[in-house]
Amino acid sequence: MAKARTQFICQNCGTVHPRWVGKCEGCGQWNTIVEEDPMGGIGGGPGKTPKKGRPVALTTLSGEIEDAPRVMTGISELDRATGGGFVRGSAVLIGGDPGIGKSTVLMQAAAALSRRGHRIIYVSGEEAVAQVRLRAQRLGAADTDVLLAAETNVEDILATLSEGKRPDLVIIDSIQTLWSDIVDSAPGTVTQVRTGVQAMIRFAKQTGAAIVLVGHVTKEGQIAGPRVVEHMVDAVLYFEGDRGHHYRILRTVKNRFGPTDEIGVFEMSDKGLREVTNPSELFLGERNSKSPGAAVFAGMEGTRPVLVEVQALVAPTSLGTPRRAVVGWDGARLSMILAVLEAHCGVRLGQHDVYLNIAGGYRITEPAADLAVASALVSSLAGLALPSDCVYFGEVSLSGAIRPVAHTAQRLKEAEKLGFSQAVLPSASADLPKGAGMSWAEMESLPDLVARIAGSKGALRQKDDDD
Ligand code: TYD
Ligand code: MG
Repeated sequence: MAKARTQFICQNCGTVHPRWVGKCEGCGQWNTIVEEDPMGGIGGGPGKTPKKGRPVALTTLSGEIEDAPRVMTGISELDRATGGGFVRGSAVLIGGDPGIGKSTVLMQAAAALSRRGHRIIYVSGEEAVAQVRLRAQRLGAADTDVLLAAETNVEDILATLSEGKRPDLVIIDSIQTLWSDIVDSAPGTVTQVRTGVQAMIRFAKQTGAAIVLVGHVTKEGQIAGPRVVEHMVDAVLYFEGDRGHHYRILRTVKNRFGPTDEIGVFEMSDKGLREVTNPSELFLGERNSKSPGAAVFAGMEGTRPVLVEVQALVAPTSLGTPRRAVVGWDGARLSMILAVLEAHCGVRLGQHDVYLNIAGGYRITEPAADLAVASALVSSLAGLALPSDCVYFGEVSLSGAIRPVAHTAQRLKEAEKLGFSQAVLPSASADLPKGAGMSWAEMESLPDLVARIAGSKGALRQKDDDD
């Protein structure tokens, strides 16, 4: 018999190498290559004749769907992130750092669904039954009919799930603990995880049960080991948040059945996660509006406006190369704003350290934050506080022009609701509300903004001369 050839597979990105190497050519990670049996010991390989196929029954697009296609938890922030509930027959991957609250949110979801009469099975591979029970008690879920198992073997899990009535939702916590008899590799390797996940997805498609898979995330922010899993599932949600803060955000990264820009916001309490229906109040809660360098950004997350504070500190540097540090925003985008400020507005920052932080550990991905960032930077450099009742949004282009962004009316409405009375926004913005309780200044270019904040650059000049 021909010797089974082994392959060397990167545990980070799944790239296959013919021999062992220290650094993966696919993703550039070090020490991620592991020797695995490519066929995973699953029949196959040279010399074996494949099983003869059996025709399947073809069907039409129209036809009966037994139940409602979605199972709603009633936890509105979770339902929002999944696009209106878990879809029957689909697989959802929930990723996040260890300890962020994945098991907690899923136990709460399981309890809520169980109370609505759904059959829920929670398979924990990481914790013993007693530990899961303890958490359920803490969450006030111990009296529900959630069925529990502590198991990691894929075949045993499938056999268990196939018994009795079909479950409406199955939670597998986590995919890194899954292992299958038919694969020789160690648990947690790409082949094992892939095989386990594939088996679970097949079960979901065959039975119509919704499957939720929990996956840990590495320091680099990827689902640990197999990014390949992201391609296999129907939806990917990331649970993020800062250990120093209580709130957690469930962010949709991929969704075959719904929008991908929605977030669900929660607050971690001693009795589990609480929904936060108005995130702006949470993010603006600890605001000190009198200090220079703080600008409130009126942002959008999917269909919902979210107000957050952008904080900047611009200080003379003592180093040869000034520091640029960003938390919660894109570093490349900050460099771009700094370059535009230097090139078009005469704001010299070459001798200054620049620190930028999004308050509360929140992360902004929208380019519409450019204007708020620029305002915070100029405000800090000039040492002049911005008006505390003003919000900022707009995209800055390389030419220094300020470009309109979508959802102007919604942003303004949210700002007004939270007690703001002014806005600085791009000129030529569409859908400006008529007769609203807010006043706004339309900015055509970044120099206009600098002049508005620093008073025709007088404050900046003086500060530069002081240095
Ligand atoms: P957990 O859901 O176990 O995280 P993950 O499954 O993502 O690894 O959450 C663990 C953290 O949440 C832990 O630090 C304790 C905290 N926690 C609370 O603050 N309140 C609670 O009610 C629960 C259940 C957990
Ligand atoms: Mg857990």
